[in-house]
Amino acid sequence: MRRIITRGIAVAGAIALLTLSTACSNEREGSASTVNADAKGFAQDSLVGVALPSKTSENWVLAGDLFTNGLKAAGFKADVQYAGASTTVADQQSQISAMITKGAKVIVIGATDASQLATQVAQAKQAGAAVIAYDRLITNTPDLDYYIAFDNLKVGQLQGQALIDGMKAKKPQGPWTVELFSGSPDDNNSKVFFDGAMSVLKPLIDKGDIVVGSGQKDIKQTAIQGWKAENAQQRMDSLLTSTYGSGKELDGVLSPNDTLARAILTSVKGAGKPGPVVTGQDSEAESVKSIMAGEQYSTINKDTRKLVAETINMVKSLQTGEKPQINDTKSYDNGSKVVPAYLLPPVIVTKQNAAEAYASDPKLAPLTK
Ligand code: BGC
Repeated sequence: MRRIITRGIAVAGAIALLTLSTACSNEREGSASTVNADAKGFAQDSLVGVALPSKTSENWVLAGDLFTNGLKAAGFKADVQYAGASTTVADQQSQISAMITKGAKVIVIGATDASQLATQVAQAKQAGAAVIAYDRLITNTPDLDYYIAFDNLKVGQLQGQALIDGMKAKKPQGPWTVELFSGSPDDNNSKVFFDGAMSVLKPLIDKGDIVVGSGQKDIKQTAIQGWKAENAQQRMDSLLTSTYGSGKELDGVLSPNDTLARAILTSVKGAGKPGPVVTGQDSEAESVKSIMAGEQYSTINKDTRKLVAETINMVKSLQTGEKPQINDTKSYDNGSKVVPAYLLPPVIVTKQNAAEAYASDPKLAPLTK
């Protein structure tokens, strides 16, 4: 204990010296040294801003309430905002600027467009606020302090593997015919999910065991703008007409999340096709029901309660002047810097392990009974 305290004093002294020397050196160096707000700490009842994207999936709805309540319980003032449904980028930009003006010490951002926030992140930095990218990375800015998310590459790998497992369970011998969907191009996660899935699927595609019926394998062709259900349904409708009209079988669809998975299933049902294996992500209640009913094949459990709790832990560390916990310093190069990240493990869920996976979730557990 004693040693820890002594060490603590030594560290505090070093930080004070560092702060002093940073303050004395020229401005450019000061802002470049990523000794953020975390080296100094700030008052316990400070304002924390949380800027979330529009509510394109249930996880964002949950996150808003959890941040409001969790930050207040931790003694902070909370300003939680969502980007609107249409002018999302401009909305989010002005919400972040307003948080800076109100004196927020930390701004947590679930980006609506990864590449459109560098100006606001720079403003935050100049005002002495730390910025945490939440769930989605913010790109092309050296001013972003931290990234916290579930391991997105792993999410994609689990989705790719689930697609294969599901198809094998239904039809042990390939080749299997599939279609591929990916998320919105303005969300940095979309490519990471897709790359993860393709790292598992591509070897089988190359061998001819998996055939992409439409031939559309490029992320530009598979992307669903805005993560919108109607866009996914439209793309599936037209794929069914162009490629599966003549009774050709469709064995599986790689879907990057639950909202899109249900839209894809609606489209397939509408065309009277037997249900293909469809993957998902987010553990949305409607998809958990669909999995239990044997329709959607899989989802991913990324427990929003955990992600928000860990984010609030980061904020608490910044408040006391400690370095937040980080477990990845190499995966997330945002084009300007490698952003120190804290990544949580995602869990694949199918009908088989749903009860176990959601045992501690009061909302989802009853759906698996
Ligand atoms: C999140 C997913 C979510 C998607 C659409 C992604 O950035 O990681 O969990 O399904 O956005 O809202």
